[in-house]
Amino acid sequence: MKLMNKLLTATAIVSASAASAVELEVTHWWTSGGEAAAVSKFAEAWNATGNTWLDGAIAGSGGTARPIIISRILGGDPMAATQLNHGRQAEELIEAGLLLDLTDVAEAGGWKDIVNPPALLDACTLDGKIFCVPVNIHSAQWLWLSHAAYETAGVDVPTNWGEFVASAPQLEEAGLVPLAMGQQGWQQNIAFGDITLAVAGVDAWRAVSVDRDIEVAAGPEYAKVFEEMVVARDMAKNSNVQDWNMATNMVITGQAGGQIMGDWAQGEFQVAEQVAGVDYTCLPGLGVNEILDTGGDAFYFPVIDDPEIEAAQKELAALLISPEVQVAFNLAKGSLPVRGDIDMSAANDCMQKGLNILANGGVLPSGDMSLTPDTQTQIEDLMAEFWSGDMSAEDGQARYVSIIEQAE
Ligand code: GAL
Repeated sequence: MKLMNKLLTATAIVSASAASAVELEVTHWWTSGGEAAAVSKFAEAWNATGNTWLDGAIAGSGGTARPIIISRILGGDPMAATQLNHGRQAEELIEAGLLLDLTDVAEAGGWKDIVNPPALLDACTLDGKIFCVPVNIHSAQWLWLSHAAYETAGVDVPTNWGEFVASAPQLEEAGLVPLAMGQQGWQQNIAFGDITLAVAGVDAWRAVSVDRDIEVAAGPEYAKVFEEMVVARDMAKNSNVQDWNMATNMVITGQAGGQIMGDWAQGEFQVAEQVAGVDYTCLPGLGVNEILDTGGDAFYFPVIDDPEIEAAQKELAALLISPEVQVAFNLAKGSLPVRGDIDMSAANDCMQKGLNILANGGVLPSGDMSLTPDTQTQIEDLMAEFWSGDMSAEDGQARYVSIIEQAE
């Protein structure tokens, strides 16, 4: 149903939406406190149109949810809409013709003119057609620091990665965990990427992650990265949690000095009513580089042979990127909006830092954009092994080089 039709008369609104009310099942992996608060903004907006949001939350991380989502679509039991990370995760589903072409919705909404940075829409585009609606920009390059922990240890809150590492012994003496880390490969891989950017720099990171330069991956800059990873592993040795939000909780409750995590961590601080700059500090680029990657989430709509559902899927796609919904959702999620033409003055200190970096063009592609899901999984598996055992820096680097060598 078109917006204009809806506005015609009050009677028309009631009868038309009653007639066309459609229930759409929407899957996603947003189950932490902050994530649930954010996704409810989508659900409320959709329910307010007279349609129904059937929430298909899948507990666990994206690594657990994605295979379930993909196998349902492949197996002929599709949901009406689903979250995935924009990038290469849906490539095969699109090629198999299983995802709805949203090009007409995108053209009607002028997405090409409003989506910023344009790489987000490129990541939804295959052969000139648009198959997803990006809903946020999430960056992974953040260090979240607990003011309470540093107060307990009697140390100033660090301003960069080097100070953070240097503060570890005092935190340990105070009985605290310097670095909170969930024992899952994707979280450890985020730390690896962020430490690489901080230690080896943006050029070396780009050479390897985007251009697959083996010499750089095997060279001295990456040797330093793996040495620093041994240091970070030691800082996290008493962190026994699994889920990322449990690690964030260690920071919120002052049990840990810091956590390296994406900006979705902010949703947890918000739910705990903590204030950026007062209770916690966030350092983009680990306080070393003014850069962020432009990963995040997009919604995809599996092809369902029912014109009424298809029309509702397109209506939902348009709604998710509409100005009001973008503001409400992203403020709760801790992510940045995908459109630059909306008022984000209510954003907190951390989001303002992110918005400034975005405005200054300090953006990098996300791993989901530059590497296949297969390569990402191999790197995550290596990280899980590295962080949970005592693999040497040399062995870690050698294993990493061979994964990059084979990356497609
Ligand atoms: C990411 C996703 C984020 C966040 C995070 C942790 O893949 O892009 O929205 O929720 O997982 O669940």
